[in-house]
Amino acid sequence: MSEVKTYPIINNPQYEPHIDEDTYHRMYQQSVLDPDKFWSRMAHQFVDWFEPWEEVSNVDFNKAEISWFKGGKLNVSYNCIDRHLKDKAEQTAIIWEGDNPEQQRYISYQELHDEVCRFANALKARGVKKGDRVCIYMPMIPEVGYAMLACARIGAVHSVVFGGFSPEALKTRILDSDCQVLITADAGVRGGKQVPLKANADEALSSCPNVHTVMVVKSQNADIAWNEQRDVDYNEFKKDMEAECTPEVMDAEDPLFILYTSGSTGKPKGVLHTTGGYLLYTAMTHKYVFDYQDDDIYWCTADAGWITGHSYIFYGPLANGATTLVFEGVPNYPSTSRFWEVIDKHNVSIFYTAPTAIRALMAAGDEAVTKTSRQSLRVLGSVGEPINPEAWEWYFNVVGEQRRPIVDTWWQTETGGIMISPLPGATPLKPGSASRPFFGVQPALLDVDAKELDGAANGSLVMKHSWPGQMRSIWGDHQRFYDTYFSQFPGYYFSGDGAERDADGFYWITGRMDDVLNVSGHRMGTAEIESALVLHPAVAEAAVVGYPHDIKGQGIYVFVNLMQGQQGSEELKSELVAHVAKEIGPIAKPDKLQFADDLPKTRSGKIMRRILRKVAEDDVENIGDTSTLAEPAVVAKLIREKL
Ligand code: WTA
Repeated sequence: MSEVKTYPIINNPQYEPHIDEDTYHRMYQQSVLDPDKFWSRMAHQFVDWFEPWEEVSNVDFNKAEISWFKGGKLNVSYNCIDRHLKDKAEQTAIIWEGDNPEQQRYISYQELHDEVCRFANALKARGVKKGDRVCIYMPMIPEVGYAMLACARIGAVHSVVFGGFSPEALKTRILDSDCQVLITADAGVRGGKQVPLKANADEALSSCPNVHTVMVVKSQNADIAWNEQRDVDYNEFKKDMEAECTPEVMDAEDPLFILYTSGSTGKPKGVLHTTGGYLLYTAMTHKYVFDYQDDDIYWCTADAGWITGHSYIFYGPLANGATTLVFEGVPNYPSTSRFWEVIDKHNVSIFYTAPTAIRALMAAGDEAVTKTSRQSLRVLGSVGEPINPEAWEWYFNVVGEQRRPIVDTWWQTETGGIMISPLPGATPLKPGSASRPFFGVQPALLDVDAKELDGAANGSLVMKHSWPGQMRSIWGDHQRFYDTYFSQFPGYYFSGDGAERDADGFYWITGRMDDVLNVSGHRMGTAEIESALVLHPAVAEAAVVGYPHDIKGQGIYVFVNLMQGQQGSEELKSELVAHVAKEIGPIAKPDKLQFADDLPKTRSGKIMRRILRKVAEDDVENIGDTSTLAEPAVVAKLIREKL
């Protein structure tokens, strides 16, 4: 790694950064030498508490028991809204930019307060109480934020399901956490095309007998079916709702939300985050990682259905009283200049997006960027997958004109907030490196024997100590929480990622070490896609692996063994691809599908994915040892028949 280019810290003459390099090192030392003292100080600084906590932290990784600020009382919606009203009632809290470039809305903190209170009262009017789970299946309109904050206000636990997921995927998530209320819209719109959210919800709910209420936000004038008993037209219903709702007093360790994410085995896991630690961690990382300043206009392009949307469109920025932009559309509609035009239109100063979008826009050519001004920009961010140095350089040189630092932020649904990242005024930049740990984060690299590696090294990325934003459990399955994250390396939290550390102590994430794919920044379990495929009557067996993809980072490669008597054909291929989209959602569509009479298996019948990966990657020279296969000839046939 010694040949890597390093860019010095960029000093912006107009801003004194919150954290410079010396401050980083000093605060980092404090944060790891006496974590409780450090976090206690931060918790006073970033969060308003109704009552103080009894103990700062109580953590036992050997039992997967984690608590922060237990006994402390607070409300997240109060912290994100009410406490700002004194100074910022008229300041814009949310800028909404429609899919259609002619549509925008500006929501002040006072309006946000009123809208969230009305939504909270509407939920109460339909019987929602503290601790109840509420599912949110929404497009990127301000109401998705109102709904989330309304749940937080009354102590209900939200479970946001990405609007691109299928009815089947929505159903499983509703059932797993027993949501009895669903909040949705008539339809969404992305890139000019409607997404039939209500119709999908209707289909999902035919198998969810406990759902008694569906709040429908009509935003597209879509033609929808209506169930008088169950469905509520939110815009009508809210007219009778008061714009005041007293925030529920919550314990720091009360659940705030569940968010489903994919693992290497089994069904998606309901990652559980709680109230106090999560809020503190997202607020603090938002301020320091983006060097957020009072006059910034901040834009994170994620969807509310992912953790990035939760932590860095809504909770972190709003806790800091920021102006946050909510974008309904896509990067290439109406043209590939859209991102940059939105930046100019709203004077965005902090811009946070994903490598897959950067690569796609890079492929569209520089002119789409250079014809825009981007003068307002100050800080650029990246999240979701490793950013390749070419894409980093393009982002830095063409978008940022070498004047804006890029914060390449490594973190996970499970970590609640950013864990490893440069800080704009404190960290030299190395393209492709997420660089150094955030305050309180204590990463280590382990070898296969669970031994901690020193200095420059490559190994499994673990955490030695808890941080307030850490997930607390898997909904309904605490044992699985322990098994997934704490059993492989006892005493550590295991991220599932591999990483390399260079001689300067900078981290380079090398990617997942398990059977989880990262396709366009979306996490997907290979097992989930395989399970979807074998539901199809023509499929006997399926094996899914990732392969390098120029734009998506990873593509989905599927090997399908058909039932006796079935013939592989182009029609069947399309049918199977459509079938996966129906079972999970369009994001899980296989990029390549190969019919195979036989899959390489060990003598005990286990599919050897290592070999399939090599076939999919076109790296057949390095296929390695095939002598343990039950039938080594299978491999040659697969290679011969490769697409
Ligand atoms: C990957 C998204 C390299 C990683 C916030 C992680 C990254 C998974 C980066 C979590 C990054 C995320 N560099 N890899 N900057 N950010 N990842 O839960 O493999 O959707 O484990 O959270 O994305 O994905 P998730």
